[in-house]
Amino acid sequence: MKKAIIIGATSGMGKGLAKVLAENNYKVGLTGRRTELLHALKNENPDSFLIKSFDISEPKIAVEKLEELATELDGIDLLIISAGTGDINENLDFETEKRTIDTNVLGFTCVADWAFHYFEKQKSGHLVAISSIAGLRGSRQAPAYNASKAYQINYLEGLRIKAAKLKDKVYVTDIRPGLVDTAMAKGEGLFWVMPVEKTVRQIYKAIRKRKKYAYVTKRWRILASLLKHMPGIIYDKM
Ligand SMILES: NC(=O)c1ccc[n+]([C@@H]2O[C@H](COP(=O)([O-])OP(=O)(O)OC[C@H]3O[C@@H](n4cnc5c(N)ncnc54)[C@H](OP(=O)(O)O)[C@@H]3O)[C@@H](O)[C@H]2O)c1
Repeated sequence: MKKAIIIGATSGMGKGLAKVLAENNYKVGLTGRRTELLHALKNENPDSFLIKSFDISEPKIAVEKLEELATELDGIDLLIISAGTGDINENLDFETEKRTIDTNVLGFTCVADWAFHYFEKQKSGHLVAISSIAGLRGSRQAPAYNASKAYQINYLEGLRIKAAKLKDKVYVTDIRPGLVDTAMAKGEGLFWVMPVEKTVRQIYKAIRKRKKYAYVTKRWRILASLLKHMPGIIYDKM
């Protein structure tokens, strides 16, 4: 039986991925802050799931809990970072920006580094993180969110190159969703909002293929390409 940890498994894509991994014979350590949701998941499938509640924006506690979970699972093959936050923040309220940075930059880095060191020591393992298409360009509505996702994309590329240099079986995958039907899909005039189930199936496929990065769902590749190549003079007016 393979072993995995999902950071941010209480809802959305993390929860969907927990179910897909269980179907595929993984034992999975599920994390998040909402303890009652973790218990509900554990009750659904006690044989496949272990749970641990913590906030990734508290690095010292996060590392302690990750160590405990790895011991309880007796090893890890895969760690998925799905935890993330972000809000529309046109007024640049600093507390809102800070919350995003604390989770998507500080917490993300703490977990990603812990996983990288763990896999480096073990000489095998796969780190997967869910960044976003939002990381490809800046946003006037949610500046910290897009900037934090750009950070994640860049950081994961760095770790992927570092992993390749190890010449062991350590892999890093960056998953870049478009819009997915979860609490995180915020704002007006949303389009192409994809179902969680379809999205997580495509994420699992990308994990199995050990892709460097993947846009999900596939149709969002088109928009990613448009976004990347759009001249500033057009993008600035949107
Ligand atoms: N939905 C979209 O359209 C979309 C598009 C592109 C990228 N993404 C990214 O996809 C990832 C998953 O989001 P989702 O769409 O599945 O939304 P979601 O349902 O809101 O899931 C977010 C998860 O992150 C956890 N989390 C948030 N802050 C945390 C913290 N400080 N410590 C520990 N866990 C924390 C939440 O658990 P607790 O609240 O229980 O802690 C929850 O399980 C995020 O990184 C998001 O940025 C989403």
